[in-house]
Amino acid sequence: MTALPRSPDFRLENRRALVTGGSRGIGFAAAVALARAGAQVWLVARQAAQLREAAELAATDGLILHTVALDITDTAQVADTLAGLPDFDILVNSAGLARHQPFLEVSEENYDAVMALNLRATFFLSQQVTRRMKQRQIAGSVIHISSQMGHVGGPDRSVYCASKFALEGLTKTMALELGEAGIRVNTLCPTFIETELSRENLASPAFSRYVLDNIKLKRLGTLEDVMGPVVFLASSASALITGASLMVDGGWTAT
Ligand SMILES: NC(=O)c1ccc[n+]([C@@H]2O[C@H](COP(=O)([O-])OP(=O)(O)OC[C@H]3O[C@@H](n4cnc5c(N)ncnc54)[C@H](OP(=O)(O)O)[C@@H]3O)[C@@H](O)[C@H]2O)c1
Repeated sequence: MTALPRSPDFRLENRRALVTGGSRGIGFAAAVALARAGAQVWLVARQAAQLREAAELAATDGLILHTVALDITDTAQVADTLAGLPDFDILVNSAGLARHQPFLEVSEENYDAVMALNLRATFFLSQQVTRRMKQRQIAGSVIHISSQMGHVGGPDRSVYCASKFALEGLTKTMALELGEAGIRVNTLCPTFIETELSRENLASPAFSRYVLDNIKLKRLGTLEDVMGPVVFLASSASALITGASLMVDGGWTAT
């Protein structure tokens, strides 16, 4: 043994992060975690008032979060807006929605709405951000907030699962194509966490029972549960990890 291995570096000073869906829920938790680790963070969401509230809340802990009101399904607007923002080292794609219905009843409207945000908007925003990372020779990290439902089926979740499985496939190919530029692309796959997206479902005792029956650690996820994994994937502590899915699912998919 000649040299002591260096400890991994989880700090993110001098790095800029863009977090879609950053005004609340998992995106906001990711943004706070990145800012606490030293990154400069920009939040993206549609509702300016909620973005403002998020930034004000973070400021109570001394964190500065920049805000960008933007509907990311409008790809032309995304390109215009990104042109006015700095280069990013970290991209967290958390904006997403769910419209659960039995497969035989899924409407075209719900299919289109879910796919437009969870897949199409994420796809083209990631294309814009990573194109610039490559041009500027930034060895960046892209983190798609996928789901355990990107790995297994779930009741009434045909469209949601289709969108998240697609995100998993996108991740693999982005990792293959962008690896040479030093850009890493991974997914983070949470189980159920109580947020605006999941609250209504979790309010049903039968559904809650189904969820807790499947989570081996016998509790729901919390926003704090995603914060460490986000910092890990964003930082050089995960320098050789790309094209991977980090399950934050309490063991749901272990069976
Ligand atoms: N909660 C869970 O149990 C769970 C589990 C696994 C995976 N996930 C995934 O985690 C991600 C975040 O979910 P969440 O539970 O945190 O949801 P959430 O609380 O509903 O937050 C969604 C965020 O996305 C933003 N957003 C929605 N449409 C947008 C658009 N067109 N353009 C820009 N921003 C938009 C929302 O702000 P505006 O409405 O102001 O735009 C909000 O900031 C999603 O991808 C979801 O699929 C969630």
